[in-house]
Amino acid sequence: MSARLISVINMKGGVGKSTTTIGLAETLAVHHKARVLVIDLDPQTNASIMLAGPDKWNQLREDERTLDFYFEAYALQMKPKPFKSLVETKVSDLKGRPDIALVASAPEFRTVERDMIEAFVKRQFHIDAIQKWICERFAQGFRTVLKDFDYILVDCPPGISLFAEAALIAADAIVVPSIPDYVSRLGLITFRKRALRMINEKRGGQSLLMVLATKYEDDMALHRSEAALLKENLGSAMFDVRIPQIQDIARAAEWSDTPRTFEQKYGEGAGIIRALGDEFLAKVALAPAL
Ligand SMILES: Nc1ncnc2c1ncn2[C@@H]1O[C@H](COP(=O)(O)OP(=O)(O)OP(=O)(O)O)[C@@H](O)[C@H]1O
Ligand SMILES: [Mg+2]
Repeated sequence: MSARLISVINMKGGVGKSTTTIGLAETLAVHHKARVLVIDLDPQTNASIMLAGPDKWNQLREDERTLDFYFEAYALQMKPKPFKSLVETKVSDLKGRPDIALVASAPEFRTVERDMIEAFVKRQFHIDAIQKWICERFAQGFRTVLKDFDYILVDCPPGISLFAEAALIAADAIVVPSIPDYVSRLGLITFRKRALRMINEKRGGQSLLMVLATKYEDDMALHRSEAALLKENLGSAMFDVRIPQIQDIARAAEWSDTPRTFEQKYGEGAGIIRALGDEFLAKVALAPAL
């Protein structure tokens, strides 16, 4: 069995992409004994620090085992070290050392993307050719580790990025965290149409794109009505589980030097993150394999 690639993506910032990626990775590993790899495609490095903790993350950077080095080598027309060597196993501060691995990002990744585009433009590459090149290199990398994992979760940066597009095109399934309010719904509809069109064009086929209501506030009539409206429109392409806006979920992001149980880490949010994993598995089981 080879891994399913799941991209967690939304153009909008601060909607809970990284929180969802880590929560999902941890519940899949802890409650379903899945082997999970998280790839952090975001130069903000939130997922990297949440999973590795500051010390291990700094060590990865020192050892040149972050994604910026990998792509920089390609951009300089040098052979990068094997993608596999970027994979740091047994990350996460959960007790029992669940099977969670990380390919970390670094702030320099932002510059690498810009430099790469500049270098290619100088060589008169069209933007579509650059996009294709990034998709191919990204796929070449993660394909070498597909056998080692059950799920590869990709935490994407907000906004428009060629790397986020590559993750979108490569994915077997896509999770789109979204805050259920009016402005987000408008953005979501546009993003979903564009994403589905792009997947169809570049990959030649459909992909499972699932919306997840995040930072949900049940005491807000607006959130209730917007989430219901999304569900009405999207049907099974929307999760029934809604991730509430609660302090314990925000707190879980902070690294703990003392290993903790899933329940200790997620507190009041533990049950709902576990339910997200269960629903995710039920939905992804229906997705076609890559
Ligand atoms: N369910 C939640 N309850 C409370 N706080 C949350 C919840 N989900 C996310 N947050 C908080 O909201 C902020 C943004 O979350 P997160 O970093 O996961 O979003 P993001 O979409 O990855 O952001 P970015 O676009 O910057 O990458 C963080 O401070 C996080 O702790
Ligand atoms: Mg993020």
